[in-house]
Amino acid sequence: MSAKIIDGKILAAEVKSCAAQAVRFLQERYGITPCLAVLLVGDDPASQVYVRGKANDCEACGIESRVIRLPAGTTQAELLARLGTLAADSAVHGILVQLPLPRHIDPAAVIEAIPPEKDVDGFTPVNAGRLLNGEPCFAPCTPAGCLRMIEAAGVDLDGKHAVVVGRSNIVGKPAALLLMQKNATVTVCHSHTRDLAAVCRTADILIAAVGKARFITADMVKPGAVVIDVGINRGADGKLHGDVDFAPVSEIASYITPVPGGVGLMTRAMLMLNTVQAAAPKTAGDLGFSVKNPVRF
Ligand code: GUN
Repeated sequence: MSAKIIDGKILAAEVKSCAAQAVRFLQERYGITPCLAVLLVGDDPASQVYVRGKANDCEACGIESRVIRLPAGTTQAELLARLGTLAADSAVHGILVQLPLPRHIDPAAVIEAIPPEKDVDGFTPVNAGRLLNGEPCFAPCTPAGCLRMIEAAGVDLDGKHAVVVGRSNIVGKPAALLLMQKNATVTVCHSHTRDLAAVCRTADILIAAVGKARFITADMVKPGAVVIDVGINRGADGKLHGDVDFAPVSEIASYITPVPGGVGLMTRAMLMLNTVQAAAPKTAGDLGFSVKNPVRF
């Protein structure tokens, strides 16, 4: 069996066109142009690439972007002061602080300085708590993108066993909450999980968010499983590799996401939806972001 590939390029383009349409609506109806401020501290090369990608996506969707680049030596107090200014600026609807931050800055203190209503990354304790409680919130973009890929491929999660490998605040934990909201039965695995391979083999849906290239091998995958690869690992060869051993696993899975061209693109696209949502007045109602026609890949 050869898995169908859930194409992040196709789905991200669709999500961004949804965002662009909602931007036009907000402009015409309310005179609002959504604006995203991205703060980048230091010169981490991967972060530079991600931030450029986000600015390009904003431009493609008609969202204004303000990229604020600060030197690596910026103090925590200086960063908090910049955040205070952006928090108070009513023309800025979304604020994102690119992670990782230099080691002398406490990321938790920085994230907590973002007003929850501008927290388009969904990283603040308020949005994390709202997600936990099933209340309206900004969900983190990577797990939201994973769910969108599953849904857009027409896979029904109701009653299925989803196994999430990885328990980070950014991916693993929110992914588990989003999967539960869709009535999946969820197991979260991590570095201390006993017989990880056996647990993974029980998964109808397997989400790999480990951060280790080719960690999920074919013997860990149940025939017909849906495999979502969150990993972006740069190999010694300079190429990007996912957390999933793609070629052998795609012989076994029913659906699989590629790296590159998978979850990474969806993360960026979901950020556009969160930014448009952040700019929308409460009275604007449904902006039409839901999956309309699942794509049969
Ligand atoms: N660094 C890697 N991924 C992310 C992300 O989704 N958001 C932010 N702010 N930083 C990141």
